[in-house]
Amino acid sequence: MVVEQADRCKKIVSGLLNFARQNKVEHDRVNLVDLVQKALRSVPPPVNVALVFEDQMADAAAELDADQLTQVLVNLVSNAYAAMPDGGALAVRLSDDGPGSDRCRLAVSDTGIGIPAENIPKLYEPFFTTKKVGQGTGLGLAVTYGIVKMHRGDITVTSNADPARGATGTTFTVNLPRRRPDAVADALPRATPETRGVH
Ligand SMILES: Nc1ncnc2c1ncn2[C@@H]1O[C@H](COP(=O)(O)OP(=O)(O)OP(=O)(O)O)[C@@H](O)[C@H]1O
Ligand SMILES: [Mg+2]
Repeated sequence: MVVEQADRCKKIVSGLLNFARQNKVEHDRVNLVDLVQKALRSVPPPVNVALVFEDQMADAAAELDADQLTQVLVNLVSNAYAAMPDGGALAVRLSDDGPGSDRCRLAVSDTGIGIPAENIPKLYEPFFTTKKVGQGTGLGLAVTYGIVKMHRGDITVTSNADPARGATGTTFTVNLPRRRPDAVADALPRATPETRGVH
C-alpha cells in the first residue's frame, strides 16, 4: 500500500509540475507528422485497440513547442485508451488547409464509452476526473487546455455516451496556428473587454 500511495504522490506531483511549467512556449521548428508519430510510439495501444494514423497535411512544417505538443498528444491518447476498456479503435488525424496555410489541426477520435453531456463543461477543470482513486488526477486535460491556449489555439470536443443515440465515442480536435505569432503581436497589450467591444 505504501508503494502504491507513493506512486500516486509521484504522479500528482509530476502532473502539478507540468501544470506549473506551462508558462513559456518554445517555438521549435518541427515536422508535425514526425512529432505525432514519435509521440504515438511512446504510448503503445492496448492489445485490443486498433490505432490508425492519418496524415492529411499538405505541409508538415510548423513552429510549436515540441515537448508541450507531445504532452498534449500523450494526454489525449491516454484518455482515449482508458475510455476503451473492451477495445476499439483510435484514429489520429493531422490536417491543414493546404500548402502554406496558417493553421493545422490534430484530431483524436476514439470508439470508447463517450463523455456524458453534463461532464463536458467540467473537462478542462483541474482535478476533474471520473477515474477511480489512484488512476487519474484530473490534470491531463487542464494541462492540455493550458498548452493549447499558450499556442493561441483552441480545443473542441464532440462525444456520444448514449448507445441509444448511436455508436459511442469521443473526438477531441486541436486547432493551432502553424507559425509563431510575430513578436510585434506578442508585445501588444492583451485585449480587454473594452477593446474586444464587449459592453
Ligand atoms: N476520450 C475520452 N473518453 C471518455 N472520457 C474522457 C475522455 N477524455 C477525457 N475523459 C473524461 O475527462 C476526465 C478528465 O480527463 P483528464 O485527462 O483531465 O483527467 P484524468 O484522465 O481523469 O486523469 P489524469 O489525466 O490526470 O491521469 C476523465 O476522467 C474522463 O472522465
Ligand atoms: Mg487523462
